[in-house]
Amino acid sequence: MRRKLVIGNWKMNGSLAGNSVLLSGIVEGYAARNADCAVCVPAPYLAQCQTMLKGTPLSWGAQDVSAYAAGAYTGEVAASMLQDFGCRYVLCGHSERRAYHQESSELVAQKVLAALNAGLTPVVCVGETLEQREAGQSALVVCAQLQAVLDVLETPALERIVLAYEPVWAIGTGKTATPAIAQEIHALLRKQVAKRNADAAAQLQILYGGSMKPDNARDLLAQPDIDGGLIGGAALKAADFLGIVHAAE
Ligand code: PGA
Repeated sequence: MRRKLVIGNWKMNGSLAGNSVLLSGIVEGYAARNADCAVCVPAPYLAQCQTMLKGTPLSWGAQDVSAYAAGAYTGEVAASMLQDFGCRYVLCGHSERRAYHQESSELVAQKVLAALNAGLTPVVCVGETLEQREAGQSALVVCAQLQAVLDVLETPALERIVLAYEPVWAIGTGKTATPAIAQEIHALLRKQVAKRNADAAAQLQILYGGSMKPDNARDLLAQPDIDGGLIGGAALKAADFLGIVHAAE
């Protein structure tokens, strides 16, 4: 039985004072026993998460990581540094990184390796644009994005990753994928992993992301291959985020 996992992706939002209110609200209202929960915050706020969330049921993580272990890479953050600040998760290949920072699937795969080497759980994001969906290329696109990661991973490492399907056309647009559309892609992704290893595929958590809100979470999370959510906008208000976390229970 796969546990549900809900991860908040704060993107480039937050302040010390605002985060303090948000994190306290989440911790105080948190009542999930059968679902796991984490927040992925901007790197400068990882220390704040470590201070405020240590010893609570919530985990925390980052939104990106360098593919390199250390060295002359100005502006980059190494996986070992995320580890220093108690991170459990790191997003790899979010569509905003792919689109605005020209991250290729091959680079994303190297980031996944860097995360795993530091003992972090990479959350590998895949998803097609509206143009690609309308051209009937959704399956092709997400499978190619996943395959680039599968190509660099040894089979045991497959059990240490989380996948997230985030259709680009649903991110921040208020247009959620229907449960049926999301389920179809999730099942496809799981099948692709199963070709490598059936056990790893069976236990792989595949999250849905893209305008998930408290009022549509239940139907999405009821799908057999949807194991949780990656939440953007709705993760910035404790009540909304908790509404989704508790729907995952
Ligand atoms: P959204 O973002 O929930 O605001 O659509 C999701 C994401 O980009 O991870």
